[in-house]
Amino acid sequence: MSTSEPYLKKHVLICIGESCGPQHGAAVRSALKTELRARNIRQFYRDGECTCLGLCRDGVNAVIWPEGTYLAGVTPSDIPRLVDYLEGKSAPLTDLVGRASEKIEIKKQSKK
Ligand code: FES
Repeated sequence: MSTSEPYLKKHVLICIGESCGPQHGAAVRSALKTELRARNIRQFYRDGECTCLGLCRDGVNAVIWPEGTYLAGVTPSDIPRLVDYLEGKSAPLTDLVGRASEKIEIKKQSKK
């Protein structure tokens, strides 16, 4: 790797905050870590945690960096296709992105 290449290709932050944590946020993060290790790609795509993305309720929320894609309602069963997406092997996660987009739109409207 040259020094101009990014340290990571993508970093996925799984929320374990007051709303997402009790909805199995840690289990989602654990499933992500396990999947990345199983595929031997954790040096390129990294799991992480955050405490609140401001999109609380209705499931575990997450964000993919550096692209800034927000996901909502993520469950451990979503992880294989999430990692497929990270690797460019599948289409965008329209259902998870769509749920997050709805929440973001409501937040934006409430600020007006
Ligand atoms: S606690 Fe997860 S978005 Fe707020």
